[in-house]
Amino acid sequence: MSQMPAAIKGRVIAISIAAAMGGFLFGFDTAVINGAVDALAGDVSGFDLNVGLKGFAVSSALIGCAVGAWFAGPLANKYGRVPVMVISAALFLISAVGSGLAFGVIDLIVWRVVGGLGVGAASVIAPAYIAEVSPAKIRGRLGSLQQLAIVTGIFVALLSDALLANIAGGAAQPLWGLDAWRWMFIAEAIPAVVYGILALRLPESPRYLVAKGDIKAATEVLTTVTGEVNVDAKIKEITGTIHTERSESLSDLRGHRFGLKPIVWVGILLSVFQQFVGINVIFYYSTTLWQSVGFDESDALTITVITSVTNIVVTIVAILLVDKVGRRIMLLVGSIGMAVTLGLMALAFSYGTLDAAGAVTLPDPWATIALICANAFVVFFGATWGPLVWVLLGEMFPNSIRAGALAVAAAAQWAANFFISTTFPAFAEIGLTFAYSFYAFFALLSFFFVLRFVPETKGRELEEMTEEVIVQRRGRPART
Ligand code: GLC
Repeated sequence: MSQMPAAIKGRVIAISIAAAMGGFLFGFDTAVINGAVDALAGDVSGFDLNVGLKGFAVSSALIGCAVGAWFAGPLANKYGRVPVMVISAALFLISAVGSGLAFGVIDLIVWRVVGGLGVGAASVIAPAYIAEVSPAKIRGRLGSLQQLAIVTGIFVALLSDALLANIAGGAAQPLWGLDAWRWMFIAEAIPAVVYGILALRLPESPRYLVAKGDIKAATEVLTTVTGEVNVDAKIKEITGTIHTERSESLSDLRGHRFGLKPIVWVGILLSVFQQFVGINVIFYYSTTLWQSVGFDESDALTITVITSVTNIVVTIVAILLVDKVGRRIMLLVGSIGMAVTLGLMALAFSYGTLDAAGAVTLPDPWATIALICANAFVVFFGATWGPLVWVLLGEMFPNSIRAGALAVAAAAQWAANFFISTTFPAFAEIGLTFAYSFYAFFALLSFFFVLRFVPETKGRELEEMTEEVIVQRRGRPART
């Protein structure tokens, strides 16, 4: 870092923070429903949701996310990275106002899906853009800002929900002429507008500009943003990694391994493992979890807040370590930590008993063990797999396929998220020991997957990530 002028460093950090606003909205949008959902279920607000529909109102946005992620890649290749950010900001804004003023459950679901499209697009474009403007030496840190923004968004949404419910005296109570839960959604309009304005001021990605043949603009960005010393050589290098006959479809991803290039499979599996360890079960169903270890409902909310603050703090730890320690070691440590903590939770729940209301309660010391392990699990996830999967997805694909491959991997991640969060109630019905053993099993499996297939990308230039290099050198330490 010593050679990089402070002004350049400051600029690239500011640009990455602005791009990471997409992550903030991603976190906010996925968490905002938590505070609103129970008010929706009461017929006070005119929404008489039965349980199945309630679940669907929560998870429908995830389907939008998968679709939004899928289309973000081809759009980013055709129109550029910045326009996709602007589109996603617009989707967030429309969804915020639409959900807040929804007439009934059907249009509410439609507005949530629209927001989901924005989340999906933001989940692809922020990691790709940040990786493409970052100098290699600090790319891991800047890429981790996306996860920091996601977890901050989750936290702010929980806080704003709690605040609005508090002022109104309940989520279903009137406030400033509307029910409080409506304001919970409308509040998202503020970060959406900020994101849109910031996005409009961002420079386009130099890799995209080279691909489009706009060498002059690319030179300008490489000089002023990335602080490239030898710009001409860099442009030549980028050109060499981009197919001149560019395709804007996803057909470039085709390969000989089950129809796709091996590196695309690595991206998809990283995504699937990140979700199959069950992180979002902890976030989406936290109240139930904390009640089973002996807290009442209001304490449970406090613990949820503590858990999301923990997640923010450990993301900062990841930011400090990622460009020093490297991606692989951190992921491997995370896998072991998650497997152990989830395994212990599975064991703890095998001592659970059902109370009169059919809720699981744990005797001591298992309640304490489960509480500690659930939080330790968040620590391991938040310091490793949470940020690093987004960092890797942004940087590990060759320039020629980055946006498309990232789109496919992110779409797979949303599908996996949908699967895990919708199956949890059924898993819990079989038994929480079963549910947590399932997640522990995937955490363990993820260790061997990283060991065998995940490349170390620390300190390497994006132009080094050609398929041959990644496949041949996977698992080896980075050449510096
Ligand atoms: C990662 C995951 C996301 C999860 C978040 C929680 O960003 O992709 O699904 O909600 O971490 O920390």
